[in-house]
Amino acid sequence: MFKTVEYKNGKVRLIDQTRLPLEEVYVECDNYQDVAKAIKTMQVRGAPAIGVTAAMGVALGAKNISTKNFDKFYSEFLNICDHLASTRPTAVNLFWAIERMKSAAEKNRNGSVESIKDILKKEALKIYEDDIAINRTMGMNGQELIEDGDTILTHCNAGALATAGEYGTALGVIKVAHEKGKKIKIYADETRPFLQGARLTAWELVKEGIPVRLITDNMAGYFMGKGEIDKIIVGADRIAANGDTANKIGTYSLSILAKEHGIPFYIAAPLSTIDIKITDGSKIPIEERNPQEVTHLSGKRIAPEGVEVANPAFDVTPNKNITAIITEKGIIKPPFADGIKGLFK
Ligand code: MRU
Repeated sequence: MFKTVEYKNGKVRLIDQTRLPLEEVYVECDNYQDVAKAIKTMQVRGAPAIGVTAAMGVALGAKNISTKNFDKFYSEFLNICDHLASTRPTAVNLFWAIERMKSAAEKNRNGSVESIKDILKKEALKIYEDDIAINRTMGMNGQELIEDGDTILTHCNAGALATAGEYGTALGVIKVAHEKGKKIKIYADETRPFLQGARLTAWELVKEGIPVRLITDNMAGYFMGKGEIDKIIVGADRIAANGDTANKIGTYSLSILAKEHGIPFYIAAPLSTIDIKITDGSKIPIEERNPQEVTHLSGKRIAPEGVEVANPAFDVTPNKNITAIITEKGIIKPPFADGIKGLFK
């Protein structure tokens, strides 16, 4: 079993997701700047995985601060947190994990700097372990929605690679249903432009022995029209208090296709992906990425020089297009504002 991310021998070790599926290689970061770079360049990606990695980056950065004076330590520590928080704007798990690390340091400000460093390492490991356990629980909850014989469409990669490891969110539901002996088949969207579906989801499912058929994004409507898709399950990068959900670009179009064809559309996400401070999806910041992801394929130009390019990495699916949100605390159905409030009680 591969490891998405680990804190090992005072280093953060990551499977390099930009090299998958052709090469299974790991990168080791021994300073927080390299961790931030790994998040920015998408060597590690996926909302929960970004959060876990950032927490480890904070612990690593704190470990390397040389002063024993708390005020000096804390000011450097906050710079590290800011640096890691500037890597990617949409997935709220990043900010959630960094806030948790800040609060662990803050609560223990009366201890020695050495003891705070130790607490920060423990907190990062707890965030990591919790994420794995949460995904398993979410998978157990979500598999109740899956029937024997279902064909499920998914988008992007919401698997072990997008989380601390093992199950994943949307793929966690699929993996648990498969473990329970349900005969399911997956359609994986390739997910232009970064191809998380073709490179990562297909790789994970083939490895797990779960039947998967890879399609290009523009084939989804065709297969829905033919009645081949029973359910759609995707992950999320940020869910607003009313249930509007930001996820990989293309999710919104899928939700409209699902509505047109009467196909249930599910989101699987942990509570750490819900941003209760944001009232609705219009306030979710959408990352604009390098145009080269669109103009090039495997480093080779496919579009003319000088063409204007747009590359929003996420879109927002309005709550009215979502059938249910699967979380570790249960499945919530519309009206989502009430269900979400209930989850945080
Ligand atoms: O740009 P990415 O690859 O970080 O985007 C990832 C997604 O959109 C996933 O669907 C989302 O983070 C859910 S991951 C469990």
